[in-house]
Amino acid sequence: MTVHNAEQIKSTVREHYADLVRSDESCCSPSDCCGTEINIEEALKGDFANQNEYTDVQLSSIPNDAIENSFGCGNPLMYADICEGDVVLDLGSGAGIDVLLAAQLVGASGRAIGIDMTPEMIEKARKNAEEAAAKNVEFRLGEIESMPVEDGSVDWIISNCVINLAPDKDLVFREAYRVLKPGGKLLVSDIVANHLPKWLRSTISNWANCISGALPEDQYLDSIRRAGLEGVQVLNKSPYAKIGKAEVASIKVRAIKPDRTYALQ
Ligand SMILES: C[S@@+](CC[C@H](N)C(=O)[O-])C[C@H]1O[C@@H](n2cnc3c(N)ncnc32)[C@H](O)[C@@H]1O
Repeated sequence: MTVHNAEQIKSTVREHYADLVRSDESCCSPSDCCGTEINIEEALKGDFANQNEYTDVQLSSIPNDAIENSFGCGNPLMYADICEGDVVLDLGSGAGIDVLLAAQLVGASGRAIGIDMTPEMIEKARKNAEEAAAKNVEFRLGEIESMPVEDGSVDWIISNCVINLAPDKDLVFREAYRVLKPGGKLLVSDIVANHLPKWLRSTISNWANCISGALPEDQYLDSIRRAGLEGVQVLNKSPYAKIGKAEVASIKVRAIKPDRTYALQ
């Protein structure tokens, strides 16, 4: 079995997403996120969740390019009661779909920030923000394992089909805890996988398709709790793929950073 280090995995993932937007192919099905070792179309049984969780109103309010280059596994905003004036941070923002939609919710007094490690994605997202004339939006090149964001500065962290791609999920959730304000919330749409065969976990070409790096659900939730986030709750779960005995699902998870300032008063 080949063991790959975190940097090898991240550079494979970065190259994969850069290629997708360089060739400007649209991606709205899991096959577009597929590596070469397994055929996700073949593996897919049942429904999968991606863009069809967005409403027509949402989709008609942002540039087509942001929709055509979206690679998510659900709509994290469906479950987030974001308010005007909030600061929202999207981990792995891609071409910007969720940042642009969050920007509408927070209004002129709020901000929506996206982080992505792929320069081609950041470039695309910035163009989409310009086309949408979104002034309260910012895209930062960086890794979600070391977020270019100040401590305790965001009300919401959202993410769509990204954390499964990170080799060290604990690091990502610890960073999420650091940048959230006390009382701030995390709402992620992501992939989890139970009973994945070892060969699939260890093949680097299948990381980028959101399968090989997916943790079993209980381990994913434990990783969030270990970071210090509380009230961890799965709000929705839908099947994504079935590969042999492996069950791959898209989940929406909410958690909150406790506000200890109340306890001190
Ligand atoms: C499956 S796409 C999802 C993009 C976007 N969230 C969407 O819904 O369209 C994964 C994105 O996460 C980014 N990404 C993956 N791992 C990352 C990491 N460790 N740090 C920052 N960005 C990462 C990739 O560059 C890519 O743009």
